[in-house]
Amino acid sequence: MKLAIGNDHVAVDMKKEIKEYLESLGHEVIDVGTNSTERFNYPVSGYKVARMVADKEVDGGVLICGTGVGISLAANKVKGIRACVCSEPYTAKLSKQHNNSNIIAFGARVIGIETAKMIVDEWLKAEYEGGRHQIRVDMIHEIEETQDLKAAHE
Ligand code: RB5
Repeated sequence: MKLAIGNDHVAVDMKKEIKEYLESLGHEVIDVGTNSTERFNYPVSGYKVARMVADKEVDGGVLICGTGVGISLAANKVKGIRACVCSEPYTAKLSKQHNNSNIIAFGARVIGIETAKMIVDEWLKAEYEGGRHQIRVDMIHEIEETQDLKAAHE
């Protein structure tokens, strides 16, 4: 797969390890940075990865900040993005199977590198199941597009 990866200043080391790990599995990884430990505003890398995913330049994205929260919040502001913060592999797997997540996020201050590797493994292996989940994913997109949800008024 072709993946984009991005992070802030607290997640540089974990990003490098995860990038190398993904490459060792045969994935192509585009690193949008940062590669500096100088203070860095996480919305910048969150947006860059989200833009590439939304524009289908890559098949998916990985985002890492201190908690995974800020960087995923920024990514989720881009239309079509479903970025999910996970601290363990089960949620990562379900985020793809049920929510069709297209970006996985986690926190370098929250989990260790081995858990991070398990999270990306499960997320990459999982496939979106569609079916009954599609109506819910469609509803999320309706909210995104219209700032409303017809079903909520019925
Ligand atoms: C940076 O101090 C920290 O706020 C950031 O890495 C992240 O955890 C934000 O959600």
